[in-house]
Amino acid sequence: MYHRKVRDSATPSPGTRDACATRSSPLHSRVHFFLYRNGRLHCEDVDLARVAEELGTPLYVYSAGTILDHYQRLDAALAPLDHLICYAVKANSNRAILKLLADAGAGFDIVSGGELFRVLAAGGDPAKCTFAGVGKSREEIEYALDQRVYSFNVESEAELEYIDRIANASRRRGMRAPIALRANPDVNPHTYEYIATGSHENKFGIPLGRLAAIYERAANMRNIDIVGVQMHIGSQITEAEPFADAIKKVAPIVRDLKSKYGIKFFSIGGGLGIVYESSFESGRSEWWKENTSASTNKSKALSIQEYVDATLPALRELNVRILLEPGRLLVGNAGVLLTRVRYIKQTGQKKFTIVDAGMNDLIRPALYHSYHEIVPVEEPNCVGSVSGAGQTSKNKSTNKIKEKIDIVGPVCESGDFFALDREMPEVHECDLLAIMSAGAYGFVMASNYNSRPLPAEVLVRGDKFAIIRKRQTWKDLVRGEIDAPV
Ligand code: LLP
Repeated sequence: MYHRKVRDSATPSPGTRDACATRSSPLHSRVHFFLYRNGRLHCEDVDLARVAEELGTPLYVYSAGTILDHYQRLDAALAPLDHLICYAVKANSNRAILKLLADAGAGFDIVSGGELFRVLAAGGDPAKCTFAGVGKSREEIEYALDQRVYSFNVESEAELEYIDRIANASRRRGMRAPIALRANPDVNPHTYEYIATGSHENKFGIPLGRLAAIYERAANMRNIDIVGVQMHIGSQITEAEPFADAIKKVAPIVRDLKSKYGIKFFSIGGGLGIVYESSFESGRSEWWKENTSASTNKSKALSIQEYVDATLPALRELNVRILLEPGRLLVGNAGVLLTRVRYIKQTGQKKFTIVDAGMNDLIRPALYHSYHEIVPVEEPNCVGSVSGAGQTSKNKSTNKIKEKIDIVGPVCESGDFFALDREMPEVHECDLLAIMSAGAYGFVMASNYNSRPLPAEVLVRGDKFAIIRKRQTWKDLVRGEIDAPV
């Protein structure tokens, strides 16, 4: 699959130092594998400027090493528990990424028939899949039953009845659907309102007070097997307390369900937040020593260890299998979106840097006003040269000037921005920029808005990279459209 070697002779192997690479350190002591070497941003051992030259921009690039490292660190921290990590496919559903995680032993949290199809296509095990979502269709339920998923995470009484009916229907007669009800523990996860899910105001889950009665109904349904209980309180949560509070609230229910129905698992959902503001710096392990609550009162980040320390004792006592559904944690900081500067536009007070990626490629800043760090691919303050798009600009980033700019895309919307009034080293036309923390909820939320073809995706492993999704063409845009016969 990896068909190109892009390591050039000037690129040192991991861990070696060079004049510009004061920040570089051996990859094994890093938290993510994006770092400058020889004055150029690398993903693992691959020079990102070269990848962009070869494949064009906008371009998503993912680090396989970072994804696996996060998975393995989480897995190791949970070792005292009988546990299963079910990667939330919605965060990044490229087949190559799913395969990476399936090979590492992961299960999957899916929310549609399409996601189940992808997992199976990637060689994932349906017996390690949980099927969540508030609006499952008949077709999706049938598909998941036929594939024998581990559990349906059920969000309402109406859905429970529907699953029972489908499991009883025609050729599936007598089949028992494994289910867990999704509990809504009503805690405040202190995150952005659109991605908070565990409070009574959200459409998700069943209030704790209603759970016992619905489980009792489920126990009397002929085609339902009660196998677990699930919750998920929100996404991008950077404090351990909301997780611990939610577990504390649901733990007595888990005990009760275990004694009544012999449930096998408790899924505590996903939601672990990642570092967006200091995304680049947080690649160094030392950064974490300085910025987690163990070292400072003003914690900027939640480490895997802090999360596990806060949750493990209560979980251990329950003596059931613990499922986790992390998405962003595994892939978020393992991906960047590479984009090239097209034009610089100065209007009155403002300076706009117009890049070739748009809100259609990465919608998070437009949709949630979320912050993504943006770094030049050519290291600032470091003598070097870069070429691309047929043009070369020498020694541009020797410039130390910092200026406030808006970094915007070409889409016809004022909301099409990646950064507003952002202090940046001086950027020029044709410069290559990396939008950090773009591995989660990036490509998966991309669209063809403004008839812009979807970007390509690349997976890096060591000193090799592979295209894992081709860039769309203009022809792809009209494929499937049909002239009206009237
Ligand atoms: N489990 C359930 C039931 C979920 O709804 C989600 C995410 C996850 C797990 C994974 O959450 P994570 O570990 O990735 O935080 N588009 C938004 C995020 C939406 C999250 C939806 N549910 C964003 O770009 O921030």
